[in-house]
Amino acid sequence: MAIYVSLPNQKGGVGKTTLDLHLAWRFQELKLRVLAVDLDPQGNFSESLLGVQVLDDLEVEDNALYAKIEQGVVAGAYARRSYHLLSAELIAPLKAVPTRYEGLDVLPSLIDDTSLQAVNKQPVDDAVNVRKNLALIDKDYDVVVIDVPPQKDTLHLAGVIASNKIVLPVMMSAYPMRGIRAMMHTLEDLNEIGVHVELIGVLVNIFNSRSSTHQEGIRLLHEKLGPLLLQHKIGYRTSLDTSVGDMHPVWKVSSGAARDAAEQVRGAMDEIIAKCGFERQLNEQLTRELKQRQQRANARKAKVPKGKTKKAKTSPKTKGVSNE
Ligand SMILES: Nc1ncnc2c1ncn2[C@@H]1O[C@H](COP(=O)(O)OP(=O)(O)OP(=O)(O)O)[C@@H](O)[C@H]1O
Ligand SMILES: [Mg+2]
Repeated sequence: MAIYVSLPNQKGGVGKTTLDLHLAWRFQELKLRVLAVDLDPQGNFSESLLGVQVLDDLEVEDNALYAKIEQGVVAGAYARRSYHLLSAELIAPLKAVPTRYEGLDVLPSLIDDTSLQAVNKQPVDDAVNVRKNLALIDKDYDVVVIDVPPQKDTLHLAGVIASNKIVLPVMMSAYPMRGIRAMMHTLEDLNEIGVHVELIGVLVNIFNSRSSTHQEGIRLLHEKLGPLLLQHKIGYRTSLDTSVGDMHPVWKVSSGAARDAAEQVRGAMDEIIAKCGFERQLNEQLTRELKQRQQRANARKAKVPKGKTKKAKTSPKTKGVSNE
């Protein structure tokens, strides 16, 4: 059975989708088979995984599915949107949409998906259907990453219930303990009715290391949460917004400014991945990356002709000052 992981928080704009994307991309780099599920009717997760054109085509395909059902012909048709996960009975077999990254598929929401939005008017009991329906295809995947919308409604609950493991993203400027307590209460309530979801970590996002308020906040969180507080924190990094807009992880951005963000985000994702039990795959990937770095360094060295060392250029104005 696949591991189901999500990063929910009832608070909006704390970085849930940005972090879910990087987690899904990182899992894919580890050569795991990944299913991304977008339960947020805003469709941001889907847009960064598939692009607008694919989502538009999917809407047309989905409307055709309903037309086929009315005519009684459904052979060869598939339910490919996350909206179908909420149904008590699927109208066609589920089939996720492949992304440009091999092994990473998605059950997407449309952009401003009104039918998915309308699910919130359905009884909260429908939330369990997501877990039940995903179990029909999870044998094809090692890990399922779910993007959960904010606000405690049916879709939010469906995402939390479907997860085995959750990481809570928090911002220091948004009274983080309130969100953490609210999530802990939700998990206790679910536990009482036999739904076991494990909180494996709290991840601080948009952290300002120069703010004494943030530093004090971290100290308090550490005191209250102990090892549940992830060691990696992510600062305010505009390159994250750009990379997500360009549909790739921040560690694929070549600018020097993104290097810091890349290290922080990849570090946090690797910490989550280890906590999800994929240490072996993580170590294999880290070994591959180390080898690649060594190969690049060797190739750079090989470019410098033997016996020649780089001389520092000097000019009358900058005499004695190296340009390197
Ligand atoms: N560490 C960061 N540094 C700078 N900007 C960030 C960071 N994390 C997220 N953001 C930006 O904050 C905005 C909100 O992020 P995101 O959409 O991931 O949050 P969310 O919690 O999923 O929001 P919602 O509750 O609406 O679903 C985006 O513009 C994103 O690029
Ligand atoms: Mg979001």
